[in-house]
Amino acid sequence: MTDKNRTAVKDFLRTYRMDYKDIDFIQNCNEFAAEMKRGLASSESSLSMIPTYIMDTQTTVKGESIIALDAGGTNLRVSVVDFDSEGHASISYFQKYQMPGTQGEISKTDFFDTIAGYLAPALSYSDKIGFCFSYPTEMSPDKDGTLIKFTKEVKASGVAGVKICEALKQALKARGLDADKKMVLLNDGVATLLGGKAIHPDKVYSGNIGFILGTGTNTAYAENMEAILKIPQHPSRTGQMIINLESGGYGNIRGGILDESFDSQTADPGKQKFEKMISGAYQGKLLHLVIKQAVADHLFSDGVDMTLMTDLTTKDVNQYILNPNAKNILSSVFTDEDDRIKLYFLIDSIIQRAAKLVAVNLAAVMLHRGIGTNPLAPVCISVEGTTFYASKVFRLKLYYYIKKYLTDELGLFLDIVMADNLTVIGTAIAGAI
Ligand code: BGC
Repeated sequence: MTDKNRTAVKDFLRTYRMDYKDIDFIQNCNEFAAEMKRGLASSESSLSMIPTYIMDTQTTVKGESIIALDAGGTNLRVSVVDFDSEGHASISYFQKYQMPGTQGEISKTDFFDTIAGYLAPALSYSDKIGFCFSYPTEMSPDKDGTLIKFTKEVKASGVAGVKICEALKQALKARGLDADKKMVLLNDGVATLLGGKAIHPDKVYSGNIGFILGTGTNTAYAENMEAILKIPQHPSRTGQMIINLESGGYGNIRGGILDESFDSQTADPGKQKFEKMISGAYQGKLLHLVIKQAVADHLFSDGVDMTLMTDLTTKDVNQYILNPNAKNILSSVFTDEDDRIKLYFLIDSIIQRAAKLVAVNLAAVMLHRGIGTNPLAPVCISVEGTTFYASKVFRLKLYYYIKKYLTDELGLFLDIVMADNLTVIGTAIAGAI
């Protein structure tokens, strides 16, 4: 029965061009790398390739406390990171809030005022603030940045086009708080790269990549200055600067028919196509649509009542795949044994596609930079994000593709670094430099 169910699911996915087997790994790596190159030269690319003005030098922070503000797709976290005289980091203050703009649209004033309020209790700990802002932001040499647009369905009107640190300082002032702080804005991919570097200062790596798979997705890496053609006015033409790819915006993967109808239902149709195929804000919702289509196409038995499932989250699908017999929205709607097997294969296949696409993303960065070709000097890939950390199934599939394609076929070597608080520590390091 299992084979019959598996074949039925495969046929269904094929009909809608949603089968991971149809993704040509090497061809997609080459296209991704070519798009990176275009993005480094100009804005004619779906990869923004944003220069961060943060140089990739070994940075150790010693004997200081830094405030780390982390505005992500779901949460806003305020921490104080203490670096001891040896450079070891520990977190002495931590508060977590809902990210403003995730519970319905808010105004620009409310957006910054809310963040200022959350920051207030930590302000006395340090005059330096690292601000990890996990949205596409055009950086300027003063290490402030202008929001290009919100992603991950965050809604705060009038914030796009605004200089983020400047506006936050104004909001602090408006509340009568101390705004005389040195603030450095950076992306979470960049922060994760810096945090990962700090973990193994003594290991030999040929390069560093920061990778995020949480509510959204992104990648950061260090690029040779001479390759960043779009900032010819920058005084330094040597060394390496960290680049924020905004890889969630990658648009050259040919998605399936159901990806297209899913995209049309999101807040920003036609944008963040890569992110919508792989990240936590979307995996559950995409699968909801896929499952609804499968029910309409009679892949399952006739008794399935989809009106019982008004929503589906990435957490729900991960729970099902880890333990299909546990009580869950999916196992309560799908009661027939064959249906549940098909459902398993359907979810498994979409997760497998996400893993293959992430492997393409990582391989393309390594191929583009020509790093990781020597096993004695692999690439350090530090990873953050709940979608990655919470899904063992996804990680196992990713490791499979890394071995199959990166190591065996392309001869690329890497070290995946998972650790607590990579983004927070990287943010504090940036705040100190
Ligand atoms: C944003 C990126 C961010 C990523 C991961 C994406 O939606 O555009 O700036 O790094 O999510 O949080």
